[in-house]
Amino acid sequence: MEMLAKPSPRQLAILRVVLHLASLLPLARLLFLGVTDGLGDEPVRAVLWKTGDWSLYMLCFTLAVTPLRRVTGWNWLAAFRRLPGMYAFAYGVLHFATYLWLRRSAELLAVLARILTRMPLLTGFISLVIMLVLAATSFQVAMRWMGGKKWQWLHRLTYVSAVLAVVHYWLEVSRYGANQPLWFGAIVAALLLFRLAAFIARRNRNQE
Ligand code: HEM
Repeated sequence: MEMLAKPSPRQLAILRVVLHLASLLPLARLLFLGVTDGLGDEPVRAVLWKTGDWSLYMLCFTLAVTPLRRVTGWNWLAAFRRLPGMYAFAYGVLHFATYLWLRRSAELLAVLARILTRMPLLTGFISLVIMLVLAATSFQVAMRWMGGKKWQWLHRLTYVSAVLAVVHYWLEVSRYGANQPLWFGAIVAALLLFRLAAFIARRNRNQE
């Protein structure tokens, strides 16, 4: 327990490597299935599904770090918020690139117009643009330049990105009658409620 409460720098470095490897595993699996013809009848669509799924999983892991830190009191977890966030963005970019590949026979401008005018695609696009802004400002130098408070407010947009990703997921798959997006919606809502409750409790304490 002592180790979990206060890991040594060496243990943190090992954990970081393990988390990178674990985050790259879905990509390695996709590449393996790709070269061994294991992606089914519609391989590009299978890549679209898997990269979309993993972008959303990683977003949920990112949102779970702070509640887990508050519940356990393991403050070192703060150093592991950026890692899943960057992988959420990376899988999101792969997902977007796969979509463009799927539509490669059409004019790029027509594809972009389609993304910007169809709600199921637009929600995913805005979610990804928010991740781009967050990834670009996730460095120490950006935090120092913006100031802690402004930076913190900007990075709360992670919730907006996650909500839009869930809406996108739901709008894309509801026609198949799938209900997985509802599970993700419940997870994101629970994480958001936890943060809201903590925020209100802190404000009340400060006013007392
Ligand atoms: C420009 C941005 C995006 C575009 C054009 C896009 C496009 C698509 C399309 C066309 C599908 C439907 C695939 C199908 O059922 O055949 C889809 C599914 C999905 N997308 Fe996106 N998406 C974008 C961004 C995102 C982002 C940022 C996330 C997550 C953070 C995401 C998560 C998902 C998920 C989870 C699915 C369902 C995958 C499944 O059925 O297992 N998408 N996307």
